[in-house]
Amino acid sequence: MSGVLIVGATRGLGASLVKQYAANPDHRHVYGTTRASSAPGSDQFPKDVQWLTGVDLMNPTVGQHLVAQLDPSQPLSAVIISAGHFTTEDLSPEKGPNWAEEQRMYTTSSIAPVFIVHALVNAGLLRDGAKVVLVSSEAGSISLRHEMEGGGNYAHHASKAALNMVGRLLSLDLRDRGVVVSIVHPGFMRTEMTAGVGFDKYWDVGGAVTPGEAAKSLMEWTENLDMSKTGKYWAPRGPGDIGTANVVLGSDLPTPLPLPCIATEQLMASRYKSPSVN
Ligand SMILES: NC(=O)c1ccc[n+]([C@@H]2O[C@H](COP(=O)([O-])OP(=O)(O)OC[C@H]3O[C@@H](n4cnc5c(N)ncnc54)[C@H](OP(=O)(O)O)[C@@H]3O)[C@@H](O)[C@H]2O)c1
Repeated sequence: MSGVLIVGATRGLGASLVKQYAANPDHRHVYGTTRASSAPGSDQFPKDVQWLTGVDLMNPTVGQHLVAQLDPSQPLSAVIISAGHFTTEDLSPEKGPNWAEEQRMYTTSSIAPVFIVHALVNAGLLRDGAKVVLVSSEAGSISLRHEMEGGGNYAHHASKAALNMVGRLLSLDLRDRGVVVSIVHPGFMRTEMTAGVGFDKYWDVGGAVTPGEAAKSLMEWTENLDMSKTGKYWAPRGPGDIGTANVVLGSDLPTPLPLPCIATEQLMASRYKSPSVN
C-alpha cells in the first residue's frame, strides 16, 4: 500500500501535504482533491500529484464521487481529511450566528468525513494497516474553552467537537479491520483560513507556523501511528500554539500533547494527569 489521499488539497495545510508527499519517493501515488472540475495548474503543484476533481464536501454523494475516481486494486496507506471552513459568529444583534454558514461548517467538518470513510472502506480502499487522519482543531476541545478566550464562533468549535466524536466512533468500527483513526490539532497556521477571520493579528504572538511546517509534523505523526493512538485526540506539535493549554492543563506539558475532548470540573481542577482520559 503506497497511496496517500489528501482531501482538501488546493490550499493551506492540504496543499503543503500533497507537495511534501509528492516529493517523497516512498509514496508512489499521491492523490489530492479539489472542488473544481479540473486539476490545478502544473505551475502550482508537482506533476506527480493525481487530482480527484469535483470533490465537494457539501455534496451528499461526495464519498461515491471520490471513490469512483480511485482504482479499487490500489488500497491507500493513509487518508488525511484536511478540508475545512471557518466563519466567525457572535451573540451581537448586528452579526449573531449564521444558519447557512453553520450548516456549511458542520457538514464540512463532521458530516462529510463519515461518508468519505464509509465509501473508502466499502470500496476496499482502506485495509489492514491503513491510517485515517481527521484534521480537527484544539478548537474542538470543550475542556480547553476558557473565559480568557471567551465564547462565540459556535459552529467553528462545535463542528470540530462533533468531528472528535465521529473519529472516536469510526475508530471503534475500524479497529477490527486494523485501520487506525487519528484525530489531530495540526497547529495554529499562517493560512487563508486564519487570515480570513482576522486571526493573522495573532500569528506572531500565538506562535503560528507555516502550513509547510505543520504538514511536516503531520506526516511524521501519520508515519508513526499505530493502534495505541486510534480514536484519540492529539496535538502532534504540542501545546505551544494552544492559547488556553497552560491555564487549563497546567505547565510542563509534553509534545506531542494528548488533548482532552471534555472533562469534568473535578478532573480539570485536579489538573491534567492521564493521556488516556478524553
Ligand atoms: N489554520 C489553522 O490555524 C488551523 C488550526 C487548527 C485546525 N485547522 C484545520 O486544518 C484544516 C486546514 O486548514 P487550513 O488553514 O489549511 O485551511 P485553508 O487554507 O482555508 O484551506 C481549506 C481547504 O479546504 C478546502 N475546502 C473548503 N471547503 C471545502 C468543501 N466544501 N469541499 C472540499 N474542499 C473544501 C479548500 O478548498 P478550496 O480551495 O476549493 O476553497 C482548501 O483546500 C481545516 O480543517 C482547519 O479547520 C486549521
